[in-house]
Amino acid sequence: MSDAAIEVEGLGRTFKARGGDIVALRDVNLRVEPGEIVGLLGSNGAGKTTLTKILATLLLPSSGTARVFGHDVTKDAREVRRMSGVVLGGERGLYGKLTGRENLRFFGMLAGVGRRRLTERLDAALDRVGLTEVADRAVDTYSKGMRQRLHLAIGMINEPPVLLLDEPTVGLDPVEAERLRHDVAALRARGTSVLLTSHLLLDIERLADRVVILAEGAVVADVAVDEFAKLAGYTAVVTVRGTGRSPVLDTGRSSQIMVDDLSEAEGLWTLRLRVRDWSVDSFGHLGAVLGGVEILGVDVAPLRLEDVYGHVAAQLATGSGTDAVEVHP
Ligand SMILES: Nc1ncnc2c1ncn2[C@@H]1O[C@H](COP(=O)(O)OP(=O)(O)O)[C@@H](O)[C@H]1O
Ligand SMILES: [Mg+2]
Repeated sequence: MSDAAIEVEGLGRTFKARGGDIVALRDVNLRVEPGEIVGLLGSNGAGKTTLTKILATLLLPSSGTARVFGHDVTKDAREVRRMSGVVLGGERGLYGKLTGRENLRFFGMLAGVGRRRLTERLDAALDRVGLTEVADRAVDTYSKGMRQRLHLAIGMINEPPVLLLDEPTVGLDPVEAERLRHDVAALRARGTSVLLTSHLLLDIERLADRVVILAEGAVVADVAVDEFAKLAGYTAVVTVRGTGRSPVLDTGRSSQIMVDDLSEAEGLWTLRLRVRDWSVDSFGHLGAVLGGVEILGVDVAPLRLEDVYGHVAAQLATGSGTDAVEVHP
């Protein structure tokens, strides 16, 4: 039996369609260690939901294997379901006329939690996702965020060691999204392994230990979150504003600095640069590149995960930069 919480090997999935076969996943390899939170990124149609559904035994693979704590999703689907919970983004399927508590009880029974256990767990489960106050209201009266949190409570009611979250913050306002993030962060303390798909890079930045990027059904990058930033090749964006003569740029003087943009208006100029490693030396490099102009202000913004993803996605789109992105065959 394998130690990994999730172990995916050579996984493929093809859908038959009228215009021909759609390959949603091709030869995907992925491991999630116990207690690890892995962020799954990729543009629309990359195969994220297909992978999540296969792991949740909602869809069969066409080739390869997927295991949850050693249990094969095809051969031991029942065990896999016992070991895992799933929350699909924008999910419906709640009973609007029933209360939150009644929904949780019903889905808990479906997940195979015994009646007595369930009664013991309901209050704690509702409390964990902050639904205690509204637990006895019909779900029809819930906000989107409350519904999504109820889904999370349902996904966790069998206290699974593995949780699959597909776009859990989709459609939520910032406050609701933050609340949900908080709930997921709390899972880390319990040692739950999580595969988290999200469009919001803030989710990944705040929660994930590792980032896996899918493109057209294949894994194109698999790196620790700290390593992820290095894929972009820079660590800070610097904006320099000045007056008078605009700078004559001599970027040959520093391998540290890349110029993005120089604009001028009404005697003021603004220069945007990217810096490979922002450090105490950087002002010196900056001075050398700018060469004696009158500077009014310098603004240094650390790299955001969003910038990295944009950068990596652009590289993937042009098919270049395979040296920067760790590409799996
Ligand atoms: N039931 C289905 N029938 C046909 N094609 C599908 C089906 N589900 C997904 N696909 C296709 O598989 C690809 C991957 O979809 P999906 O896994 O939903 O991507 P993502 O979640 O990353 O946006 C897409 O091209 C999508 O159109
Ligand atoms: Mg999806």
